[in-house]
Amino acid sequence: MGQGQWLANAPLYRLPENLKLDASTRLLDIGCGRGTILRALDDQLGCDVAPVGLDFSRAALRLAAADERNPRRGAGLVEATATSLPFRDGAFNLVTCGYVLKHLDDDDARALLIEVLRVLEPGGLAVVWEFGPSGNPRLDAWNYRVLATGTSRLRLRSDATLRRLATEAGFPYVRDASLRPFLLPPIPRASILIGRPPEGFEGNV
Ligand SMILES: C[S@@+](CC[C@H](N)C(=O)[O-])C[C@H]1O[C@@H](n2cnc3c(N)ncnc32)[C@H](O)[C@@H]1O
Repeated sequence: MGQGQWLANAPLYRLPENLKLDASTRLLDIGCGRGTILRALDDQLGCDVAPVGLDFSRAALRLAAADERNPRRGAGLVEATATSLPFRDGAFNLVTCGYVLKHLDDDDARALLIEVLRVLEPGGLAVVWEFGPSGNPRLDAWNYRVLATGTSRLRLRSDATLRRLATEAGFPYVRDASLRPFLLPPIPRASILIGRPPEGFEGNV
């Protein structure tokens, strides 16, 4: 992992330890872009099954497939939209989704989360993170400009808003993931850890 990636994504490299992940992890990374998270987790876990990276950008997937650091090359890269996942129910036990939700309005964000719940097996977990608001309107106006892609309107949501959307999508287990520190760019992050309880689990979650 390059230093830039570490500064931008440090907490994600601790997911294997924090979530007690191992080679049996069946990972789906939604909005995988160039495949950075996919590759980093696969490197650490040595996944038995090739992790799947999904993105609606063919250009991003081409870059991911061409990356020489990716020993699996194009394996597991899928071009599709995050709100309609082309996978069977319960196909994965870990879903990651970073920096995608700001591109989606609330209806599409809920649709994405409903799909995440569907493709998670019982006992599976998902980690979702995104740039968040700072609470200072002037700083937020600046951050919107830093993050602007020029096309769509961005939405920066707090931890509480992400939790609400996940609950509305039907997730019975919703927690702040409190992923930090993300050092670059210096914009707050919001993150949630959400899950589908194991079968037969009746307790409070
Ligand atoms: C900022 S990049 C983040 C890439 C990667 N998750 C990471 O953290 O390095 C966001 C990615 O989400 C993808 N994306 C945005 N909206 C999407 C959607 N509705 N369906 C699938 N991919 C989407 C974009 O094409 C882009 O590759």
